[in-house]
Amino acid sequence: MSEKILVLGSNGQIGTELVTALRKAYTNDDVVACDIRRPDYEIKNAGPFEFVNVLDKEILKEIFLKYKPTQVYLLAALLSATGEQNPKLAWDLNMNGLLNVLDLALAFKTAKVYWPSSIAAFGPNSPKDQTPQFCTMDPNTVYGISKLAGERWCEYYYQKYNLDVRSIRYPGLISWKAAPGGGTTDYAIHIFHDALKKGSYASFLSAETELPMMYMEDAIRGTIELMDAPADQIQIRSSYNFAGVSFTPDVLAAEIRKHIPQFKLTYSEHDPRQAIADSWPRSIDDSQARTDWNWKPGFDLAKMTEDMLSNLKK
Ligand code: SER
Repeated sequence: MSEKILVLGSNGQIGTELVTALRKAYTNDDVVACDIRRPDYEIKNAGPFEFVNVLDKEILKEIFLKYKPTQVYLLAALLSATGEQNPKLAWDLNMNGLLNVLDLALAFKTAKVYWPSSIAAFGPNSPKDQTPQFCTMDPNTVYGISKLAGERWCEYYYQKYNLDVRSIRYPGLISWKAAPGGGTTDYAIHIFHDALKKGSYASFLSAETELPMMYMEDAIRGTIELMDAPADQIQIRSSYNFAGVSFTPDVLAAEIRKHIPQFKLTYSEHDPRQAIADSWPRSIDDSQARTDWNWKPGFDLAKMTEDMLSNLKK
């Protein structure tokens, strides 16, 4: 059977790269990019694009009617830092967007749904190091609360209605193609831009703040691998722990200095994102993903840093 794939939130940091990867894996016409904003890059010309607000269930329904998607990726969301500036909007978008998509996927018999969770679903009382798949989860950002609730909804739709929903708890994602979307881990992208442009960067997270991160190429590959895995291998129907590489701003700066020796890192104090970062894990145990669908990251810190710098230089 041929596939028809909707990517909702196609203009964001993940969507931009996911649409391109899916269009390579399938065909351009099989992958429908959808966003509330017009894309200003290759996506626009390469294949179908639709204006869609995931909170507008009528429009969303028309899109399901028009394309009868076999797969849906829902990426439209407010992230951790932006969410704290508008908690009610973050809750509305992250939660009702998901419920709208789950309901329509059921109604239109969509074969598979993908929805991302995050390390933000963990909280101050979750174990910080090698955070396990199952543990205390007490998120204290509205983004994290929406991710944890969303995970429960995904599992609920799987168990009650047999909807094939799959999900990953993304760490901070590092990429150069599209700008990050207002998260707490964004420093790890800004640092590369400023290192090249100014030779210095003022980090909003402290020197010793260690967070789980991953290079976008790994994240996209892992996401598609999860979606391609046979359904009976997917043991986790809430969301999979998923790990790449953990580091602090200091360690990242030292790696950048191997390429830009004069690079200077300073720290800006009293940023609200520090408290968010402090409530998150330092590293993640992703053994369940490795066992169930053979997940294995390909980028370590050195390889990621080299790739980021060489692509941003172009
Ligand atoms: N990168 C995201 C954020 O910082 C975490 O999911 O909000």
